[in-house]
Amino acid sequence: HRVQNRQTGADAPRELPLGATADSLGVRENFDNEPDTDPALPANREWGRAILERSRATVLGADAVAAAAIATPGEIERAVADSRAAASAWASRSVDDRAGVLHAAGRMLAARRADLLEIMAAEAGKTLAEGDPEVSEAIDFAHYYAESARELERVEGARFAPVRLTLVVPPWNFPVAIPAGGVLAALAAGSAVIIKPAPQVRRCAAVMVQALWDAGVPREVLRFVDVPENELGQQLVSHPAVDRVVLTGAFETAALFRSWRPDLPLLAETSGKNAIVVTPSADYDLAAADLARSAFGHAGQKCSAASLGILVGSVADSPAFRRQLVDAVSTMRVGWPGDPTTVVGPLIEPAAGKLLRALRDLSRGESWLIQPRQLDDAGRLWSPGVRLDVAPGSEFHTTEYFGPVLGLIRAADLDEALALQNATPYGLTAGLHSLDASEVEHWVDRVEAGNLYVNRGITGAIVRRQPFGGWKRSSVGGSTKAGGPSYLFGFGSWEPVERSP
Ligand code: ALA
Repeated sequence: HRVQNRQTGADAPRELPLGATADSLGVRENFDNEPDTDPALPANREWGRAILERSRATVLGADAVAAAAIATPGEIERAVADSRAAASAWASRSVDDRAGVLHAAGRMLAARRADLLEIMAAEAGKTLAEGDPEVSEAIDFAHYYAESARELERVEGARFAPVRLTLVVPPWNFPVAIPAGGVLAALAAGSAVIIKPAPQVRRCAAVMVQALWDAGVPREVLRFVDVPENELGQQLVSHPAVDRVVLTGAFETAALFRSWRPDLPLLAETSGKNAIVVTPSADYDLAAADLARSAFGHAGQKCSAASLGILVGSVADSPAFRRQLVDAVSTMRVGWPGDPTTVVGPLIEPAAGKLLRALRDLSRGESWLIQPRQLDDAGRLWSPGVRLDVAPGSEFHTTEYFGPVLGLIRAADLDEALALQNATPYGLTAGLHSLDASEVEHWVDRVEAGNLYVNRGITGAIVRRQPFGGWKRSSVGGSTKAGGPSYLFGFGSWEPVERSP
């Protein structure tokens, strides 16, 4: 990924992206991924320190709790009706006009990178290292979907008719990129949008939405409707005038939405239980570092996170591999995001339920390679834990935890590793560390997941290069991938046009 000096604007030398993919659409010439901030440059470190200082003030300050104006049932009715009424004007603007507004939105998000990082640290507990690529991703969505919208117009003999009203229901764990992605895709396609922010991170969503409004997205076309997740949430989700719901969240939430409204047109990216397979041919140093980063980035609170390491043959008992893994994990500093040395930040809420069990209770036959420790009174800060000899078919093997705990499973050979990797109900991300090309080919053909990564970590998909989305219970309502060439198709339908003779 490119990196940039935030103070001079100069680009650092470009690296060739691993896993670059060809485009099936013509956006290649008009789209560049936004560079991340290069933390190696002293000027950027200064810039980052100032952001964290402000974020600490935000946490401590009087405005720490958002003055949330929760919508009432009547206001929800009005928001839905007014949004639908505003939709036709937005849809009938020319695609150049809409794309222009989206590009302006991308530039505005870039201009507010520091504000977004500050609120993400204060409200969501994100470190700069986790938050910075997230801002880049939000900017990428704006420019990429702007260009994708133009592609919709280039289909001969058909016209893309957008849906009128899209409801975006984002999660708390990517509080800027995921809400931005859903909103920008729907807007690019020509739909009006209501966003219902995740309650834990409503201010992150508000700062993002404000940037879009300030860039020229009409307020009547993008509405921010804050409702608690009770009857009011149900009223909004199951409202018959909502044409599409874009949900990123737990599989159970998608099922709940469907129970409220069985014909609900849902585009949902849901849960994951993701593994990295390590074979004896792997570069152990690299494999251990990628496993640690994929498991414990944002304290494991990613649907894409590595929750299992599947160790093939001699890897499981290799002292060298264990040494590397212990080293990689135990050197990750745990702390609050306001401290620039923090690598693993806090949980969004104190560990409870199945996550707390996973951090505390070993199952039969298991032991800790690294035992997690609770570091604060509330239970939000935990040092990362790694358990050995997770039993195939056990609760740990198939349960999504969303926290800083990784399990290691043994496999006799690559086929057994694949069987274990495919044995969860989900299919979101999957990794393989192997330097043997025939193993890579064998694995790629058989693994059941939406995003496959070889010899790198399994989080941090990049718009256009790694469109993001899953299989099985990781996706509900179609398998179009965010940040990929067909994502906008989910926001409308093609109608044939009569051509004049
Ligand atoms: N898109 C996010 C990632 O790839 C979830 O990590």
